[in-house]
Amino acid sequence: MTEQLSLWQAEIQSCQSLRDLDEIRVRLLGKSGEITALLKTLGALPPEERKEKGAEINHLKTVVAETIDSRRYQIEESELAERLIKEKIDVTLSVTPEAVGSIHPISQVFNEIISYFSNFGFEIATGPEIEDEEHNFSALNMPDHHPARQSHDTFYMMPDEAGIRKLLRTHTSTVQIRTMRRQQPPLRILAPGRVYRCDYDATHTPMFHQMEGLVVDKGINFGHLKATVIDFCKHFFERDDLIIRFRPSFFPFTEPSAEMDIGCDRSSGGIKFGQGNDWLEVFGCGMVHPNVLKNCGIDPEEYQGFAFGFGVDRFAMLKYGIPDLRAMFEADARWLSHYGFSPFGGK
Ligand code: DAH
Repeated sequence: MTEQLSLWQAEIQSCQSLRDLDEIRVRLLGKSGEITALLKTLGALPPEERKEKGAEINHLKTVVAETIDSRRYQIEESELAERLIKEKIDVTLSVTPEAVGSIHPISQVFNEIISYFSNFGFEIATGPEIEDEEHNFSALNMPDHHPARQSHDTFYMMPDEAGIRKLLRTHTSTVQIRTMRRQQPPLRILAPGRVYRCDYDATHTPMFHQMEGLVVDKGINFGHLKATVIDFCKHFFERDDLIIRFRPSFFPFTEPSAEMDIGCDRSSGGIKFGQGNDWLEVFGCGMVHPNVLKNCGIDPEEYQGFAFGFGVDRFAMLKYGIPDLRAMFEADARWLSHYGFSPFGGK
């Protein structure tokens, strides 16, 4: 009987599929299987012999069943391994060059600016593009009929039933108000976003991008503002020799207000920084007006702030030598492949 067992075991072990294995199981252990038939012979035996033979056949049955189980497990394992190999997706496969997209210069410049300011603890803040007059003008110290409202060429919506007129925000300074009304100082925020004005030529599009900065804390002064924006411009334009000047200006929401210019040379047609007698206006900035702080529930006796705002598209044009602003928004793949950036870093 041991010989018979070894034969069956060898047969089971050589089995390659679950189907063949099941056939063997039925043939040996099934209702009319060979081992079942052996068990049936027990009844005809004398009692002493039956006991001994019974134990032997039952042992045989257990060993065969166990061998089948363990072989089934092996076959299942190897079938799974085979399937995993067959269905494997190679996620490390490199992207074919023709399928690579590129990063738009505006996104690139937004990322450069954000990564610089995040070193100094500035957080990103956002607000809606469809705004109300309160956030776009009134709270920024431009009450109704204030002449500065006219300079913004605002796109207004039809008034609602309550007579409230929404508008497309004309600047990201709205986010100053939204942030200060939500959060107590100290504050350091950077507000990137789209803004809208009714204007269109080589250097103006009805939609463009601004970056707003706001710092509110105790003891903030104009020196902090100057150092922040000068260092930023040197870093952004990758030049230590930038010539920079602050010119007194007027914005209703800052006092004093200034505009920052970068000295340049335009005599060759292009723009060269670090030389020449021309000035390029790049930044609006100033100390947050006490009325603006008060409008947001912040005590100007206790807290001071500085703010700045600039056109991101213009920064992109200056840094990467892009001549016409309008092309930025035409979604022309040829333009993008020329001026765009690799998603894997670099040009
Ligand atoms: N909001 C101004 C504009 O769009 C730019 C600006 C000027 C923002 C001075 C500021 C600032 O935060 O302090 O023309």
